[in-house]
Amino acid sequence: MYSEDKIAEMKQDDLKYHLHATSSITDMEAWGGPRIIAEAVDHIRVKSVEGKTYIDCGAGLWLNDVGFGRKELGEAARVQMEKLSYLQSFNGYSHPGVIELAKKVANMVPLDEAKIFFTSGGSESNDTAYKLARVYWYLKGQPQKNHIIGRTKAYHGVSYGAVSATSLPGFWDGFRPLVPNFEHIGHPHCYFCAWGKKEGNCSLECADALEQKILELGPHNVAAFTAEPIIGTGGAIVPPDRYYQKIKEICEEYDVLFIADEVICGFGRTGKMFGIEHWGVKPDIMMLAKGITSGYFPVGAVALSGEVYEPIHKFGTFKHGYTYSGHPVGCAVALRNLTIIEEENLVANAAEKGELLRSKIRELGLPCIGEVRGKGLMNAVQLVRDPDTHTIFDAKVGFANLVSMIAWENGLMLRPLIDDGLQLSPTLVITEADIDELVEKMAVSIKEAYRRII
Ligand SMILES: Cc1ncc(COP(=O)(O)O)c(C=O)c1O
Repeated sequence: MYSEDKIAEMKQDDLKYHLHATSSITDMEAWGGPRIIAEAVDHIRVKSVEGKTYIDCGAGLWLNDVGFGRKELGEAARVQMEKLSYLQSFNGYSHPGVIELAKKVANMVPLDEAKIFFTSGGSESNDTAYKLARVYWYLKGQPQKNHIIGRTKAYHGVSYGAVSATSLPGFWDGFRPLVPNFEHIGHPHCYFCAWGKKEGNCSLECADALEQKILELGPHNVAAFTAEPIIGTGGAIVPPDRYYQKIKEICEEYDVLFIADEVICGFGRTGKMFGIEHWGVKPDIMMLAKGITSGYFPVGAVALSGEVYEPIHKFGTFKHGYTYSGHPVGCAVALRNLTIIEEENLVANAAEKGELLRSKIRELGLPCIGEVRGKGLMNAVQLVRDPDTHTIFDAKVGFANLVSMIAWENGLMLRPLIDDGLQLSPTLVITEADIDELVEKMAVSIKEAYRRII
């Protein structure tokens, strides 16, 4: 399909002209250029320019819910481009697609009297959510109530507000000063409990940390607490039962808004339509993106409750917006994509296939797999040096990185996560046969990497 000369030229041009999003330039130079994918082969497989096939274990960046190659989505985009390719939502303009999508999403989210604001992706949704929280208190006469509390291992994106809420190594270096008044508390993760407790034998010190932080800052200074219902890029970390119930109680006690970043969890990935629904808790604001279009078009959204909207309504304007807010093509693709998710029962499929995937990995019985965690098809495999003490290899060993490199040789696109996690978040249309192939290739890769480092 591509000649060797053409491939060499593309690799050189990429190195010369393309500054990649969060990628190791050193690695790409060592490889002689990036890994170039030419096309999708089926719902879950892609083909490189060299003609080799790979299973996409991450559904891109946790987003390809309906799988590659959906002609319906191409058709929805084409029809909309020809009918009305663009319209702004500034200055009181609207169009039928954005109205229909706003109504649909508002009726899906677990918020009372929800309203939907559209963005172009997750970072913009995060910045919008923090601005909504701050303006809410400002308009209620409490402008000093502007601190946003997030958590360690959180990933909320890279625009300045979003990166200030993020707390993963490397994302702040060289970019300071960050946005003021963003604070962080420890994240819940029973397997590596930072409070030294055993699962099921604690009093949710991880949730108490929020109360302590609010009291330290003064409740009158705290606007909101934000969390990914299940931490994504930080390692597909599921909190213990009752964590969010307690968090919500604390937020209510101190008049602090609860903001759920559903950018990954939203639209079925975790086996429920929204991640927070696993805990039956209602947020005040929710960020959405990724699965809303399965990545076929860049669309994000923010859902806010009627209560958060109320002072903005009284004030008369929300002085915030993006050129691509409510993009007609994005709305058409999102509407068609959400219909596919519903019609094909992909939320239930995520729950069922997620169970199957985790159980098949556990059955491998590999001693260097310490924890297989996640919900639905938002999962991670935790690699460890010692499963009894839950100890990981020194970061210099780069175990997960090595597994990922070997997995690529074995036909898998498998992303290493921080602290030796491996991301397993395939498309929601994955089949049992796909799972078998994925697990087998991953096992071979883990064993080979382990043999090399031990
Ligand atoms: C939970 C979460 N929030 C926000 C973002 C940022 O989204 P984007 O990259 O579309 O700006 C991401 C991206 O992975 C994410 O996982």
